[in-house]
Amino acid sequence: MIHKAQHVRAIKGSITVPGDKSISHRALLLGAIAEGITIIRNLSPAADVRSTLNCLKQLQVETEEKNSYMEIEGKGLYGIKASSTPLNCGNSGTTMRLLSGILAAQPFSSTLIGDESLNKRPMNRIIEPLTRMGAKIESLSGGLAPLAIHGNRLRSIYYQNAVASAQVKSCIMLAALYAPGLTTLVEPHLSRDHTERMFSDFGFPIKRHGLKISLIGPAKLIGCQVDIPGDFSSAAFFIGAALITPNSQLEIKNVGINPTRTGLLDVLNQMGAKIEINKHSGTSSEPIGDLKICTSQLNSVEITSELIPRLIDEIPILAIITTQAKGRTILSGARELRVKESDRLHAITKNLSLMGAQIEQREDGFIIQGPQKLNGAILNSFNDHRIAMSFSIAGLIAHGETQIVDAECVAVSMPNFFDVLKGVVVA
Ligand code: S3P
Repeated sequence: MIHKAQHVRAIKGSITVPGDKSISHRALLLGAIAEGITIIRNLSPAADVRSTLNCLKQLQVETEEKNSYMEIEGKGLYGIKASSTPLNCGNSGTTMRLLSGILAAQPFSSTLIGDESLNKRPMNRIIEPLTRMGAKIESLSGGLAPLAIHGNRLRSIYYQNAVASAQVKSCIMLAALYAPGLTTLVEPHLSRDHTERMFSDFGFPIKRHGLKISLIGPAKLIGCQVDIPGDFSSAAFFIGAALITPNSQLEIKNVGINPTRTGLLDVLNQMGAKIEINKHSGTSSEPIGDLKICTSQLNSVEITSELIPRLIDEIPILAIITTQAKGRTILSGARELRVKESDRLHAITKNLSLMGAQIEQREDGFIIQGPQKLNGAILNSFNDHRIAMSFSIAGLIAHGETQIVDAECVAVSMPNFFDVLKGVVVA
């Protein structure tokens, strides 16, 4: 599918975005290995979350989609059953990495496969710690997917992760549920803490001291109700659209504002963005709020490694926003972007250059001098949902038509992205 974007006059209205993708994966996985029933409200409709759900169905987990919620009958830690066919994780790194932590401890073997993009993403980062825990995992392609996992008895470990990755952290945490004794994990910078919060919702609190978390296995998880907030990472595209399009005023309701995810808000605040946040006093372990965003005069900013994990998925839209900010924006310490659904530093640079913008690509970031005029162009999505969505927003302020080729990949995280966008643009 080719998406065509035109210059618009404003962004106006009030929207909600679908349930958070990261939290949805975790709710399904924990619900599957908990005891008793788990009810999930506002599960993400993302294709990635479908991948997790389909894998769980292959592992004989029973789920029922009701009108307004999803019900999972928990199987307990060892109740899932071997799948006779490979588990297809599609485009989803979270599915492959988190599920591996559970499968490593099962008394059967599994094969995990993915699409072309997932098969290029590094898996050594989970193979290494899981192997130290006693798991038997083979990469069928030099440290990449597909993976063959031969379940085994696991032991607890002390693990210092070289990258700040919530997927790696969560994979080890899931494996640690099965490993008797104390597992301790240290990360270089704080990554999203949804797994930590959800373990506690399922009756298994963990301890945190700064960047160190510890848990004592084996665990027992008890099914519960999980209310999933709107996905901040999906909201980010609309935040960006409202900030850089003249005469805009947008409200986004019921968005997750977990501070380990909202580094973008901190950066935008520093840049001079006008964003009002009204936090709800809800009961969920994940903070939720309503955001009000107005067109803003923005200044450039410098972003370094410690902030990166808190805005890792928002860097493509941040790059678009900074083209409209006055001054030199410098992003560094973001080498991880090279191993996402696409090489995002390359994709951002290539597409912004095609739009006529000046951007200097660095090994671990970029430099953008703003403000710059953008011109409509024919752009590749690189089959990366966040690249497709970011450049659909860039197209709203560009002169002339912008076309995004292979734009259907937005369904990986937000299938209704173009409908929601259509609802707020003033042509
Ligand atoms: C995610 C963690 C991040 C993020 C991804 C979702 C998660 O990946 O980029 O979109 O749900 O844990 P890394 O852990 O590889 O940084």
